[in-house]
Amino acid sequence: MEVIICPTYADMSRAAAREVANVLYAKPNAVLGMATGSTPLGLYQELVRMHREEGLDFSQVTTFNLDEYVGLSPQHEQSYHFFMHENFFKHVNIPPQNVYIPSGTTNNYKAFCEWYERRIKEVGGIDIQILGIGSDGHIAFNEPGSSLMSRTRLKTLAKPTIDDNARFFAQREDVPIYAITMGVGTILEARELILLANGKKKAHAVAEAVEGPVTSMITASALQLHPAATVFLDTEAAAELKMRDYYQWIQKNKPGAPRT
Ligand code: PGA
Repeated sequence: MEVIICPTYADMSRAAAREVANVLYAKPNAVLGMATGSTPLGLYQELVRMHREEGLDFSQVTTFNLDEYVGLSPQHEQSYHFFMHENFFKHVNIPPQNVYIPSGTTNNYKAFCEWYERRIKEVGGIDIQILGIGSDGHIAFNEPGSSLMSRTRLKTLAKPTIDDNARFFAQREDVPIYAITMGVGTILEARELILLANGKKKAHAVAEAVEGPVTSMITASALQLHPAATVFLDTEAAAELKMRDYYQWIQKNKPGAPRT
């Protein structure tokens, strides 16, 4: 796992956007795995800027989102469909038919989840998956205890996640308690993973995920099993890492390292 520590949230967002753009330059029809939440907003803004100012082209791109709340229609302002449209899709040129987001309103979740997994395989798999991390160490809505081999399925949200997300709803009771989410096993099949985290609220979960044991209690720790995972942090989110100096030493010396 590579750990990149950036001075600020804006620097972290730009570094992660460069990683996504590099995938697109190498493979214009790449399949991108998208994440929601407050963390990737800066990354999306930077990709939109690159699209507008540098001609970064999304016309052949396909996307799959990690998760969606059960019971919220795509028009609901807190749905992840709405979030993605407002914060990213409406600003770039991804063909709408290439956008996949789990349905929060299907009447057959099992069949939907199987179809979603099948579609990912049919388009050739995800090239780069963007991830955030919950304060309980989750990736997507894979709450503590989720199997590290899990696939796309219905999950009951953990209390800390509901508490964290309550800030987006008028009242805590409005936060859905079920979600449909890609599994940890689904996520690990992406060719490249990038996880972003900022702020001191994430410092503990980040340290557990990066330096703790691989455990289903911190599903982000599964990134340790992936051959191409990079964690982008701001200084606050990196604060509890024991090996922080080592990561910064590697970062500093990387430009001069022999090309592989
Ligand atoms: P956040 O959510 O980006 O809003 O902090 C991250 C997550 O729960 O995965």
